[in-house]
Amino acid sequence: ADQSAAAATAEIGIIGGTGLYALVDDLDEVDVDTPYGAPSDSLLVGEFAGRRVAFLPRHGRAHRIPPHAINYRANLWALRSLGVRQVLGPCATGGLRPQYGPGTLLVPDQMVDRTSGRVQTYYDGRTRADGITPEVVHVSAADPYCPRGRAAAIAGARASGWPPVDGGSMVVIEGPRFSTRAESRWYSSQGWSVVGMTGHPEAVLARELSLCYTSLALVTDLDAGVETGQGVTHAEVLAEFGRNIDRLRTVLAATVAGLPAAEERECICVHALDGMTTGLGVEPIS
Ligand code: ADE
Repeated sequence: ADQSAAAATAEIGIIGGTGLYALVDDLDEVDVDTPYGAPSDSLLVGEFAGRRVAFLPRHGRAHRIPPHAINYRANLWALRSLGVRQVLGPCATGGLRPQYGPGTLLVPDQMVDRTSGRVQTYYDGRTRADGITPEVVHVSAADPYCPRGRAAAIAGARASGWPPVDGGSMVVIEGPRFSTRAESRWYSSQGWSVVGMTGHPEAVLARELSLCYTSLALVTDLDAGVETGQGVTHAEVLAEFGRNIDRLRTVLAATVAGLPAAEERECICVHALDGMTTGLGVEPIS
């Protein structure tokens, strides 16, 4: 059923990665426009695990949008405009350690940006089409993920019988190509755990809106520097994601159920904009 954006509300957002195009069948489809353009697709809004959730397929339902062309700003703004304050971001990644093979679930606590040219801020000094100019704002990205969200994801995955790797660095590459073996070996040698293409700027844009953001990295393949075959293929990534989709949904449900109530949020994310005026009307946050 279609619903007007004005009426739809949600407290939790899930940005579904490659292969995760639907959560449950009976969600309302809501079209949301933003000052930054259109999000990747309509938002699917309704009850999931007993909470009000808005689901957005990151690449669009037909998987039309490559990682570097995703309108990350519009996606997070659209979720926030429905009332969302906590976001889960499952994504497909390559493992950078032999023990992180396909089917590993990792909840990163750090991120390395190796993208180039992506719009990564709302505070870009440019006047928007609606005449609003943002202030100059610098948020902390020292710990880019929500500690409460991470705890809920880890507990949710454990309870679902899929114990995740607790922590690790996700390096985000520009793509859409996969890494060369030399690049991949370099990432491994830095001690980084997984490599993906969408974790940046999603996490830092969420922080700029004072949203809680939690990444759930599903390993679909061993990256080129770790494996000894022909390198990663897109087909392999899709097939492995497909094999894990049901248990990923279970983990997401358990995580959603374990997230703090809106009024009980108390983390670095809530305070990301303390003492600042953004000019965008996104403060104060509660
Ligand atoms: N997404 C899934 N597998 C990947 C890999 N090996 N590198 C980058 N992004 C990925």
